[in-house]
Amino acid sequence: MVRAWFMDSSDEDQRLEHHRDPPQLVSLDQLFKLSGVEYFKLDPENYQKDLENLKKKRGYTYEDNITCSKECLENYEQKLKSFFTEHLHTEEEIRFVLRGSGYFDVRDINDEWIRIAVSPGDLIIIPAGIYHRFTLDSEDFIEAKRFFIGQPVWTPHNRPADDMECRKHYLQRVSRGFEE
Ligand code: LAC
Ligand code: NI
Repeated sequence: MVRAWFMDSSDEDQRLEHHRDPPQLVSLDQLFKLSGVEYFKLDPENYQKDLENLKKKRGYTYEDNITCSKECLENYEQKLKSFFTEHLHTEEEIRFVLRGSGYFDVRDINDEWIRIAVSPGDLIIIPAGIYHRFTLDSEDFIEAKRFFIGQPVWTPHNRPADDMECRKHYLQRVSRGFEE
């Protein structure tokens, strides 16, 4: 099951948990209100039907699998470095974890980092225009499905990208409390 918390500000190993002292956990409800990140729990052994429904509902037409590990990812070090560089996308980022685990960090409404620990069965939707990043945890392995509406565009726009339309639109959604 997914867990989320506000991060400390230490620049120790990115693969550690980085809890605050004392830990400040974030519920799924809070996570949505503070960032617009959506979460769905699917059965990692038997997810086909739920996934098909979600794809239909959200209009996802593209799907592939990505594995992040030293053995499986080309240019591993470089890719992981770019994943962990704070960035945004013009479209939502959808990941469904099949095996392994990792951390998605998102900037909340107050520009604080929230760390989201994902494991098999977790499906998260990171909205277009939100600053975020990804890191493996100390297990160094994740396999996930990626989805997209239409032809995929994975381009990260590193911070600052405040003049982009998707950023402005995201900030409007923030100010409306994500109630569209
Ligand atoms: C991505 C994740 C790493 O852009 O944020 O694929
Ligand atoms: Ni991204």
